[in-house]
Amino acid sequence: MRLSNHVLFSAPAIGTTLENMAKRIRNETHPEILFMPLMHGSFMFAADLMRQVSRHCLPGLEMDFINVRSYQGTESKQLELVRPSHRPIRGRHVLLIDDILDTGKTMKAVTDYLFDVEQVDFIQIAVLLDKPSRRQVKTMRPDFVGKVIEDKFVVGYGLDYNGHYRELPYIGYLEPEETDGSTA
Ligand code: IMP
Ligand code: MG
Repeated sequence: MRLSNHVLFSAPAIGTTLENMAKRIRNETHPEILFMPLMHGSFMFAADLMRQVSRHCLPGLEMDFINVRSYQGTESKQLELVRPSHRPIRGRHVLLIDDILDTGKTMKAVTDYLFDVEQVDFIQIAVLLDKPSRRQVKTMRPDFVGKVIEDKFVVGYGLDYNGHYRELPYIGYLEPEETDGSTA
């Protein structure tokens, strides 16, 4: 497949990065942290991170999910947030887990929702990839970052381009001429 010429982050490199992230998460989060992956992009990262964290023992750790869907509204891109479990999480410490932090708009919408509607107490953010050069919400700073990358459109390991490439065990990038510029 063409993408194999464009590997940015190999499967073994991802594994080492996750080991280091898991150690930091173990030391720098509340023992009863609620892991909250943003679906769908973070599914592979969250599953592997969870396995690594369990090796470092966080006995009170729990998991919940949030679905984030973006659609084109009348004037701008709108986000729809759905938390399937409906379980009360008021007062909890939450670790938001996402594949990539780009403009920061998604993370801002999710943190606002969790504080304002769900009334959680404290939020930390773990992302596998960070593209700081694209940030629009300047206050969005992740607590745990796997790798800082330049402005490339990346796919694989959960990240997609129009629904494709999520299954790859590594992260590659597409050339601008291989995309239409959308980052849905
Ligand atoms: P933000 O709201 O701009 O920070 O966007 C975050 C979301 O956009 C991520 O959760 C991804 O789903 C998507 N995204 C941003 N950059 C990329 C990329 O390079 N590849 C695939 N998806 C991306
Ligand atoms: Mg996403």
